[in-house]
Order: sequence, then C-alpha cells, then structure tokens
Amino acid sequence: MAEKMNSSIPGHINDEFYQISSEILGSFPKYRPPVDLFRFREDIMVLAPYCRKESRLTNEQVMEVARICEEGNLFVSRTDHHIYSRHIIRQLDLVLQDQNLKEAEIADICIRALGMRYADFCGQPVKAVFDPLYRDILVTTEYIFADRHRINAFVRRLFRKHDQARHAVNCMSLGLWLWLQSVAEYRRKDMDRMAVALLMHDIGMCKVPAFLVNKQSPLKSEEREKVILHPVIGVKLMQKIELSFEELLRACYEHHERMDGSGYPQKIRSTQISRTGRITAAVDSFSAMISERPYAGGKDMLEAARELAADTRRYDQELTKMLFSALAAGDFGQFTDMDASLDAPAPAPCNL
Ligand SMILES: [Fe+2]
Ligand SMILES: [Fe+2]
Repeated sequence: MAEKMNSSIPGHINDEFYQISSEILGSFPKYRPPVDLFRFREDIMVLAPYCRKESRLTNEQVMEVARICEEGNLFVSRTDHHIYSRHIIRQLDLVLQDQNLKEAEIADICIRALGMRYADFCGQPVKAVFDPLYRDILVTTEYIFADRHRINAFVRRLFRKHDQARHAVNCMSLGLWLWLQSVAEYRRKDMDRMAVALLMHDIGMCKVPAFLVNKQSPLKSEEREKVILHPVIGVKLMQKIELSFEELLRACYEHHERMDGSGYPQKIRSTQISRTGRITAAVDSFSAMISERPYAGGKDMLEAARELAADTRRYDQELTKMLFSALAAGDFGQFTDMDASLDAPAPAPCNL
C-alpha cells in the first residue's frame, strides 16, 4: 500500500530525513525498529523523535507507528541509511516502490543486495539460491532501464577491496555503462542478459579451491591449469541451473581472451571475440587493477584506465579509450567509498 505523501511537510526535512513507507516499515522487526524513528508533528511543524533504534515497543506503540506511517508522518534519518539498507536489501523490489529514496541510496542498496546474493550463490551454486539473485538483477535492470543515466550512480560505487562478489558487481556496473555507451537502441531483455552475463562471468571461480584463488605467490603450472579452467567450469555451472544464452556464454568463455590471441581458453583474437567478450575482458581487468590485494594496493582508477587504454594489443581500444576519456573528464562525478560503507559495523543495540 502506498503511504500518503504529506504535503504540509517542509521541503528541507527531506534533505536529512526520509519518509518511510508502510512496505519498508513492514520489513523491520515489528517490536524493535532497527533505526531511530521520527514523527512529524503537524501542530508544531517539526520532526520529533518517536523512538530510539532497538528500543522495545509495546503493542499499542506498534499500532501507533503503523498509523503514523500510513498518515505519511513517519521518518527515518538519512544517517541511518546503512542500517536501513541492511533490511531493504532482502526485499529489493521495495526500492522501486519507494518514492523517498534518492538515486544514490537506491544504487547503494541494489549493489549491496547483488553482492550478498552473489556471495550466497558462490557458497551454494544451485538454482534455488540463484533465483533470488536473478530477481534482484531484474529489479536493478528495471531501475536502470527507466533512465540509463542511473548507471553512473552504480559506477561511482566501484569496490576497491577484492572478493569475488565485489568483483562481480564492479564488472556488472562498469560493463553495463560501457555497453550503454555503445548501443543506441536496446530492449529491456538485452539489458537483463548483459547484466546477468557480466555479473556471472567469473562464477566458475567458485569451484576453484580457495587457497589457489587467494594465493599470494606465483601459481605453479599445475595450479594454473586449474585456475584457467574457470571459464569453462562457469558455463557448465550455469547450464546445470538451466541458464544458457549467448551473452552469458560469451562473457564466461571469452573474458580472458585477448585481441592479439594471447588469452585463454580458446586463444581467439580480434573480432573472433564477441563484443560482450571484449567488454567483459576490459572491465574484468580494470576491476582487478583497481582492487586492493593482500600483497599490493589497488591502482588509481585513472591510472588503471590509462594503462588499459595503452595496452592496444590486448584490449579493444574503442572500449578502453571510452572508459579512460570518461574518467579523465570526470563524467561519473564524485566516487563513493563503497567498501567503508559496506564494512560499517552494525550498530550496538541501544535500549531506552
Ligand atoms: Fe576470470
Ligand atoms: Fe573476473
């Protein structure tokens, strides 16, 4: 049910607070709201604290909170976004219904949801665990499809720390941006397929033993043989859960192919590599270059893009130059420290 928008609320309040919808309130533990709640008092035209986060509500208060919310007078502070988003990521479709979230907040929530669902699927790569990931991909593409410029808010949130989920989401955000730059017209279905392909390109790595994925010293040749199988393993894994389409096959198989034929597993070159494969290769390498590893800091983004664009033998120049130019011109705007926001500790319970 859509809550009432209270037209008497002064505009400046929305800079610091957002009106909470009944759907999102319903996703909270009913008796212990995880965020501070504020009530708009029409008689004095101010927001007054209603209850502190994690405080225990009585049955009467639970009903009162629901009523205040329905009247359009219940607010949360935007400083509690990181807590709020931990709840909403489990019901991502709510972001499409909520009129009160800003573009940056929606991108942040979608990225967190996709990272969480991807990590779940890596841990248990079966169809039942893929389904919620797929639903969240479709929520994200529905949101971006409505306005292609929204992809910039995703690119501003690239992770610098490395793990497989963060890398997958990085590649989806940046790969979709590159793809959108180079297609004039597209259908929603095309965007859905690209998003799935980019996100899942490295899924075969979940079958590579963790000690090899994280190994800091150079791989021995028999170890390398295991790692370079991941494109093929990824395709098989997706086929097992009955997901197989052109873009996904290409992204999985071709993201380690290089324009000069020096890549793997097929050693194909130039336009033998599909456009999807070339986009995935560029963003895969870029994400790896900017990410911090235990043995090395991540490269500066502009520097990484410059290096990639200079590597004309191995990468598609048209794509890598597009990325470098956009970064050099500051087209994406101010980047956000996504790792810090993801790593923020959960708040300690506070009982009043
Ligand atoms: Fe890979
Ligand atoms: Fe990758």
